Amino acid sequence: MSLPNHAPIPELYVSSDSAQKLKHEAASLPSWDLTQRQICDLELLMNGGFHPLKGFLTEADYDGVVETMRLASGALWPMPVTLDVGEDFAARVEPGQDIALRDQEGVILAIMSVTDKWTPDKKREAEKVFGADDIAHPAVNYLHHKAGPVYLGGPITGIQQPVHYDFRGRRDTPNELRAHFRKLGWTRVVAFQTRNPLHRAHQELTFRAAREAQANLLIHPTVGMTKPGDVDHFTRVRCYEAVLDKYPAATTHLSLLGLAMRMGGPREAMWHAIIRKNHGLTHFIVGRDHAGPGKNSQGKDFYGPYDAQDLVKKHAAEIGIEVVPFKQMVYVQEKAQYFPVDEVPEGSTVLDISGTELRRRLREGLEIPDWFSFPEVVQELRRTSPPRARQGFTVFFTGFSGSGKSTIANALMVKLMEMGGRPVTLLDGDVVRKHLSSELGFSKEHRDINIRRIGYVASEITKNGGIAICAPIAPYASTRRAVREMVEAYGAFLEVHVATSIEECERRDRKGLYKLAREGKIKEFTGISDPYEVPENPELRVETENVDVDNCAHQVILKLESMGLIKA
Ligand code: PPS
Repeated sequence: MSLPNHAPIPELYVSSDSAQKLKHEAASLPSWDLTQRQICDLELLMNGGFHPLKGFLTEADYDGVVETMRLASGALWPMPVTLDVGEDFAARVEPGQDIALRDQEGVILAIMSVTDKWTPDKKREAEKVFGADDIAHPAVNYLHHKAGPVYLGGPITGIQQPVHYDFRGRRDTPNELRAHFRKLGWTRVVAFQTRNPLHRAHQELTFRAAREAQANLLIHPTVGMTKPGDVDHFTRVRCYEAVLDKYPAATTHLSLLGLAMRMGGPREAMWHAIIRKNHGLTHFIVGRDHAGPGKNSQGKDFYGPYDAQDLVKKHAAEIGIEVVPFKQMVYVQEKAQYFPVDEVPEGSTVLDISGTELRRRLREGLEIPDWFSFPEVVQELRRTSPPRARQGFTVFFTGFSGSGKSTIANALMVKLMEMGGRPVTLLDGDVVRKHLSSELGFSKEHRDINIRRIGYVASEITKNGGIAICAPIAPYASTRRAVREMVEAYGAFLEVHVATSIEECERRDRKGLYKLAREGKIKEFTGISDPYEVPENPELRVETENVDVDNCAHQVILKLESMGLIKA
């Protein structure tokens, strides 16, 4: 007789013949292009990871989940899995209708028979599910700023799995994992959920957990969506692979879970436990601050450190999985060993490196000790996050025409090239207008498009480890802010205001344009007949009157040095 964790779990897919037929029919249905999060949810709905759900929640199920963590049937389910859509799309769909659900390239993944359409009370959802209507919580921020205003509910007919091109061999559906356990005869398996690289503390924790539970170990990291700012999953999976040989191969397996986390603490931990049960696991590790979202807008933790453990323990029997609770693991120097924080021998020296401290050390290229992590993991992390002196960055000059931006930018470029190490690109106002923006004029709208194009190119250069030097007028603060945001997603942004007064620029009038502007022959001329919003907090402001170009460029070099972007 097959054990419950070995028997197949129901999926929502139809046979491949029916899928072909349905796909054809679905082409004429109203279609919804799924968001990244919805694709993750749909995959787990279809493959049984979200069993007993049969589709996106109906309104009655949603109300039950939000208020009491239960579906209308009474089954335990702590997290809303809803199809949020825009108002326009919602207006075209009525309950009773079928819709096609497509991935971001337009491939039809499923058909949903819409039974419910409603406008949720998002404040209530935030308070009940996540504990506070506070946008410092990533899921609450998502709920208010990304999720659509209307929810659709109804059962799903699965046509095909979302396509993954990365780490295909390491992704398993619940039934694939169950089959794997069946084949190996693994009757007790403990899962370790993580969204971080594995360091020594995690390894020690997982060893101990497997020992305590007398179980095999499944390292089951989330690779769908995790907390914004986390180490990307490509790097993490390379890190997991790098430490896999430190585990006994006969009792350990690594499998990737395409879950979109909400960082919902206790409720999320329960959700994780149900998902693991569905994947054929018998035991589940819940550590300190499981799926914690960090601090709220008052600087306090959203949840208590062991709230998640308590809630999962309370419902473990009903879920049908055993909790393996774990305290935080810390390194005890005198013993050269890791201990749970409540078992540390009295009077000993405890060492720990927080996530923030680790990121700082990576950024500054500082030592990361062997007691903390494995050299292979540190090497992977350093490849992805090289020290600042090897990361890309953007220097963005702004100022009036003729203020000296281009001259200083050119001098800076030459100095940076003399230093070497990173490719440098100069995106000068005139040059950009010739090659990227030749069709644009000088209206506010056109200037914004021009600057955003520069920002996009600069952000790509920064992402790829180069130096972008931009020198447009960029007269509007909001557009400069948008460029800063684009670049800062990948590296440092240094705004330099070239603060030459309009009188001085006009006196110099190197291109003769001010004269033409005064005569009305050039319209909308910045500083004469068009606005310039002076930067309030640039990283650097340079005066050019009575200061030579070399000195101005050198001030930028000094600033870059003080920001750690170039080595002294
Ligand atoms: S903007 O506002 O940032 O898009 O302007 P930018 O692309 O940097 O402008 C490049 C050069 O265009 C010349 N020029 C004008 N500048 C301002 N206003 C008007 N109406 C205008 N018409 C032409 C000007 O010489 C800018 O050159 P720089 O390099 O700033 O001296």
